[in-house]
Amino acid sequence: MSKLAYLGGEPITENLLSSSELISCAELERKYLVEAYKSGKWDDWPGEDSMAARFQREWAQFNNSDFCALISNGTHGLQLALESLDIGVGDEVIVPGLTWQATASVVCDVNAVPVLVDIDPKTLCIDPDKVEQAITTRTRAIIPVHLYHRMADMDRLLEIAHDRNIYLIEDCAHSHGSIWGDKNVGIMGVFGSFSFQRSKLMNSGEGGALLMQDEQLYWKVVSQRSCGREYNNYRVHSGNYRITSFQAAILRGQLAAHYQNADTIDRMGKILDDAVAQAPGVEPLTRHEKNNRQCSYAFVFLYDPAAFDGLHNSTFRAALSAELGQYFDTTYTPLSHSEVYYPHTKKRHQLNAEYVKAINPSGWDLPVADDVWQNRAVLAQWTIFGCLEQRAHLLTDAIVKIYENRHQLLNKQAKK
Ligand SMILES: Cc1ncc(COP(=O)(O)O)c(C=O)c1O
Repeated sequence: MSKLAYLGGEPITENLLSSSELISCAELERKYLVEAYKSGKWDDWPGEDSMAARFQREWAQFNNSDFCALISNGTHGLQLALESLDIGVGDEVIVPGLTWQATASVVCDVNAVPVLVDIDPKTLCIDPDKVEQAITTRTRAIIPVHLYHRMADMDRLLEIAHDRNIYLIEDCAHSHGSIWGDKNVGIMGVFGSFSFQRSKLMNSGEGGALLMQDEQLYWKVVSQRSCGREYNNYRVHSGNYRITSFQAAILRGQLAAHYQNADTIDRMGKILDDAVAQAPGVEPLTRHEKNNRQCSYAFVFLYDPAAFDGLHNSTFRAALSAELGQYFDTTYTPLSHSEVYYPHTKKRHQLNAEYVKAINPSGWDLPVADDVWQNRAVLAQWTIFGCLEQRAHLLTDAIVKIYENRHQLLNKQAKK
């Protein structure tokens, strides 16, 4: 039994990613950037053939969407989706309790109440049964997030939204290019919102996009992102949520790469899931049969501390990181006690005592999300999908090695 790297032994590999199968189109990005610069059309103005207009068309086409509107970032995209649906004071919006804070904080930013709902422990996405239980007469929308390494159960959620006459807005910040049945992610809900922030599968530093299938909604969003200028007889006060053509230029190059990377991410995701399935005390997330392409923002699997005789997840992750030369983390902190979600502290949200109480996240109980976050999740960033297929077994080997050495780790844990 060889000594664990975490305890001073030789690692299984210095770096699981000896090289990457994911491609980049940096030359194309540069070419489009120069073109955008020379064109003099540096912003995203409706009706102009700017670089932004071109990427807008290409992103719609990649996702088989009728309309796309570029937005300054994914947070503003979700906010404008809610505003374009006239969701605000007195309304409730159901969001998952495990997500980046933006999914919920935008609901407060339009003065509605985010209702935090627990997740399905097999996918880490919002639990449709709990969504049904959370619906009230005030519910106007559900925002499922296709979180990390799975899509939310769109069949169930679309049925619930349809039966209860509420809107469904897909938060696709983690899922550029996933497919459910024959539908692209982002075109099943009334809106699909994407982020192009630095950590995402496609990155322009900052940036976002909304997909929609209704022309009237498209013009509403165009008006909302552009200071409330009147378009198509729509006129509601707003601010500036526009992107620049320089961001769009980079995104055109990123999209060219993503046409290829999307399938690689899906294929390697399955292969890494299989590698996990062959190891003791861990399991892959459950993949729905309609999840035909999974473009994951992170690779996640589930750890069972009991199978490792009580070894804490954080020690397991540290040992795995040391064996594979890749950092393994846990999930976001659930929103009920997240370090970045405390909307009740902001003066702008102090509408009245009842509202402040309703948006205080500590009022929500999310036992499944808490358990996943504290004890179960093992997460690596999406670049791991560049791993060569013939090296995926190293993941199994590393977990087996940790399992066989668990008592040494338990001793170390006890001495701390
Ligand atoms: C699930 C989710 N939704 C929304 C956002 C917001 O996107 P942005 O950072 O572009 O505002 C993020 C970004 O991290 C996210 O992870």
